[in-house]
Amino acid sequence: MASSSSCRAWHCLLALFLLSSAAYGQLSPSFYARSCPTLQLIVRATMIKALLVERRMGASLLRLHFHDCFVQGCDGSILLDDVGSFVGEKTAAPNNNSVRGYEVIDEIKRNVELLCPGVVSCADIAALAARDGTFLVRT
Ligand SMILES: *[C@@H]1O[C@H](CO)[C@@H](O)[C@H](O)[C@H]1NC(C)=O
Repeated sequence: MASSSSCRAWHCLLALFLLSSAAYGQLSPSFYARSCPTLQLIVRATMIKALLVERRMGASLLRLHFHDCFVQGCDGSILLDDVGSFVGEKTAAPNNNSVRGYEVIDEIKRNVELLCPGVVSCADIAALAARDGTFLVRT
């Protein structure tokens, strides 16, 4: 009996955790619908251009996004350059000379900044690039 009730309590805790983290995340595919209505088009167009140059970039940007999610979440931290004594994730052992496609993220960010300055996070750009890369090279 004791083990079954503690098991239920554990499930209740898990459910609470999942609910609270879902509420905290506030993720929405229409988050930029009003603040940057052209975002999806800009990302899609820039990804099509990049994939015409090199089809493999679709997989590379999915991998970049995946590696961005290491170390405290998908926060764009993989894009940070080393500055002085600060060593970022970009040159950390699992990523150095391994993760690629930074120039495509930079190009998307430049294009997005032209139309929606200071609105869209680099973490979201990496996620959208991974999504479009996967969608566009699907076979
Ligand atoms: C990353 O790679 C470059 C080029 O190979 C190398 O010079 C640098 O020391 C590496 N950085 C780290 C932190 O391993």
